[in-house]
Amino acid sequence: MASGVHEQWSSRMAFIFAAVGSAVGLGNIWRFPYMAGENGGAAFVLIYIAFVVFIGMPVLMAELTIGRRGGMSPINTIKKVALAAKKHPRWSWIGGLGAFGGGLGLLSYYSVIAGLVLAYIIKGAFGAFSKFWADPSVAGLTGDAANAAVRVQSAAEINTLFADPAMMVIWHLAFIGITVYIVARGINAGLEKAVTYLMPALFFILLILVGYSMATGEFAMAIAYLFEPDFSKVTSETVLAAVGQAFFSLSLTVGTMLAYGAYLPKTISIHKSAAIIAASDTGVALIAGLAIFPLVFAYGLQPDAGPSLIFETLPIAFGAMPGGQIFGTLFFVLLAIAAITSSISLLEPAVSYFEEKQGMNRWKSAIFAGTAAFTIGLLSVFSYNTWADMTPLGFIGITEINGATANFYTLIDFTVANIIMPVGGLLLAFFAGWVALRKDMMEEMGLPEGGIFEIWHVLVKYVCPPVLIFIIISGLT
Ligand code: PHE
Repeated sequence: MASGVHEQWSSRMAFIFAAVGSAVGLGNIWRFPYMAGENGGAAFVLIYIAFVVFIGMPVLMAELTIGRRGGMSPINTIKKVALAAKKHPRWSWIGGLGAFGGGLGLLSYYSVIAGLVLAYIIKGAFGAFSKFWADPSVAGLTGDAANAAVRVQSAAEINTLFADPAMMVIWHLAFIGITVYIVARGINAGLEKAVTYLMPALFFILLILVGYSMATGEFAMAIAYLFEPDFSKVTSETVLAAVGQAFFSLSLTVGTMLAYGAYLPKTISIHKSAAIIAASDTGVALIAGLAIFPLVFAYGLQPDAGPSLIFETLPIAFGAMPGGQIFGTLFFVLLAIAAITSSISLLEPAVSYFEEKQGMNRWKSAIFAGTAAFTIGLLSVFSYNTWADMTPLGFIGITEINGATANFYTLIDFTVANIIMPVGGLLLAFFAGWVALRKDMMEEMGLPEGGIFEIWHVLVKYVCPPVLIFIIISGLT
């Protein structure tokens, strides 16, 4: 058995940045806004925030605690903690479901979208965004007419890329390649250090974008859209989608935080770290929403455009703002980095397992897991073009999910985020509350009886499991 895949995090800062780096990614800037858009805005946002606090945080604390307790790859960690409580080793399957079903499944399409981000770096650098405004169809127009014309340009740009499967495969391969390379080499001090500078930089650029949106976009409309809930729009599907988004965004249930917890020095406070991770993650998602929706409304775009939303909105603004070529390029560079610090954490659980269990070396494990994710990802690539209208579950009557055509991409995303993640969260909360020894959890968290520990324990034991069961059943039926 290989020893620890990497040693302990070099400092509390390093851990926080790695964990925040994992949490903050496409889920915040790409997925959150379009999920909010597809699910009616503010009501979704508020439910999402409630889930982050009452379900996400407890599960995050559970994963870090169990991870540190077990100190191995997610599957073996859970086995160890179960055995310590004299429970069945088969509980380790929760780790397997997460790392393989969730982690690799998610990485498969995460990488396709991240590939688009890479493509947009190049587009930005070559001034593609300002060309929208310079196009003869736009020049000379003002007001709504100009907006409508520029919208057509921006949509054409992303649609051309969608329509080109070969290009999409290349970008997808490039992104998986980078991920595999970093994971294979081990997460070295260089990456820890890079993340420490780059995450604040991303935050900074987002703030600039919000400022720009505030000044030029329909900011008030965006605020109303994001924060004035109309609960009559809430269905059981909205609630399930919000729970899925909370798990997705906090990097839960796929082994990531279990794996990161295993490298966590004993002296670091788990509950404080969890609070910082959750607050940063939610902060970035909301700020991204505030950057994007004012532009969506200002240019007459549809908030429920789906996965192409940020690729259509932001470039319009970059094309119009002074220095947009630089900011636009930089934004996509930082987004790519945010995506990489997440994708490595998606691959890590499977890789650490292959290493530990199968005795494969790190390179082999990473290439093997990466190839699996790449291959599954091809289904998503073709869902944007050749197979856009193909509905693999059409034969059992599933042709649409939440208004989107149920092609491979929609189905994989739905399965991961709305089934595997909520079920994984349910199992993890149940495991932490009912299977693992209460005193082990308490000792590992370094908390006294009562207080925060008790609140956490009640949440994972009595609140999360029934609430999740209810949400899953009503959301799926
Ligand atoms: N949290 C990441 C994001 O928001 C995605 C992710 C999910 C990463 C699960 C790791 C594990 O982009």
